[in-house]
Amino acid sequence: MTRILVAGGLGFIGSHLVERLLRREDVAECVVVDNLWTGSWRNLAHVEDSRLQILVEDVERVCLAGKFDEIYHLASPASPPWYMAQPLRTISANVVGALRLLDVLAPGGQMAYTSTSEVYGEPLVSPQPESYRGFVDCTGPRASYDESKRCVEAMLFEAHRAQGVRIKVVRLFNVFGPRTRVDDGRAVSNFVTQALRGRPITVFGDGAQTRSWGYIDDIIKGLERYFWADGVDYPGPLNIGNDREIPVLEVAEFIQRRFPKCPIVHLPAPPQDPTNRRPDLSLANRVLPGWTSLVPYEEGVERTIAWFRREMRPGAAAKRPLVANASAKAIGQNLRLV
Ligand SMILES: NC(=O)c1ccc[n+]([C@@H]2O[C@H](COP(=O)([O-])OP(=O)(O)OC[C@H]3O[C@@H](n4cnc5c(N)ncnc54)[C@H](O)[C@@H]3O)[C@@H](O)[C@H]2O)c1
Repeated sequence: MTRILVAGGLGFIGSHLVERLLRREDVAECVVVDNLWTGSWRNLAHVEDSRLQILVEDVERVCLAGKFDEIYHLASPASPPWYMAQPLRTISANVVGALRLLDVLAPGGQMAYTSTSEVYGEPLVSPQPESYRGFVDCTGPRASYDESKRCVEAMLFEAHRAQGVRIKVVRLFNVFGPRTRVDDGRAVSNFVTQALRGRPITVFGDGAQTRSWGYIDDIIKGLERYFWADGVDYPGPLNIGNDREIPVLEVAEFIQRRFPKCPIVHLPAPPQDPTNRRPDLSLANRVLPGWTSLVPYEEGVERTIAWFRREMRPGAAAKRPLVANASAKAIGQNLRLV
């Protein structure tokens, strides 16, 4: 039976991943370590499964009994305003967190890491293949995130080469969908929450910068297949994302058509905002044959609007008990606040 640890499991992507992991019958125990910096206990409050344990702690400092067969390291904010507000904490979560997690990996176990397309920096090639070494400013305002992701990739590949540690490194491109924070601060969630509040939709710069938005369900399916379901023996790095490249303004205009009373206004672009992002998925197509993004951004945005509409209903949070009734027992027994 398999013992699993998910660092950052109360976050947007982590909570979806935990749900998939708990579908596995070979999983004896799934321990989530999360300090609730950007995550929310509500993301897993509906899960009723006695194998799930939630430890509210920093991954760098967590005390754990025994070793784990599979470790998933997602503990890091992904949104620029959040990681730029606490850059040293971001570096610590990624780098010190990874060192701590390697300590508790069982011999022969697998360590999986969610790296990012940000390792390509301001890319000079498009689409970006995994072999592209990127154009990153190691002293720039995004360095806490970009460089800590690059550092953890380096650590894991050294552990793989020097000690034979089994690793899986994915480079995720922009992911969106339900369970993003209302105050997340990135394009899709900003536009949707602004529109739902009847406020102007704010586009940074002229909006010509492109992104490749992957809907959460498609991305999680790719992660599930790569991390465990397909029995893949490839350390990565592997791009996972949607390769349909869309200007940010196009998404804003799509949302604005649904909320015609909300004008689009332009604000100054944040520092070193990448001008383009598009994954080269050739390797992903070989490693995960048949995997592809099925949900176009238009449909993903509609689903995200519906989710935020529920989340932002007046009193919605207050009406939701700290622990949902149905899962009070499971979460209540398995939540350890430190
Ligand atoms: N969302 C994206 O578009 C995207 C893109 C590329 C890479 N990623 C990576 O995927 C992972 C998850 O991203 P997400 O979008 O779910 O972000 P998120 O902010 O929703 O989740 C991160 C989780 O980690 C927790 N956390 C942060 N620091 C911690 C620490 N020191 N100890 C314990 N828990 C800690 C947070 O509380 C949160 O629950 C991150 O590593 C991120 O870099 C995300």
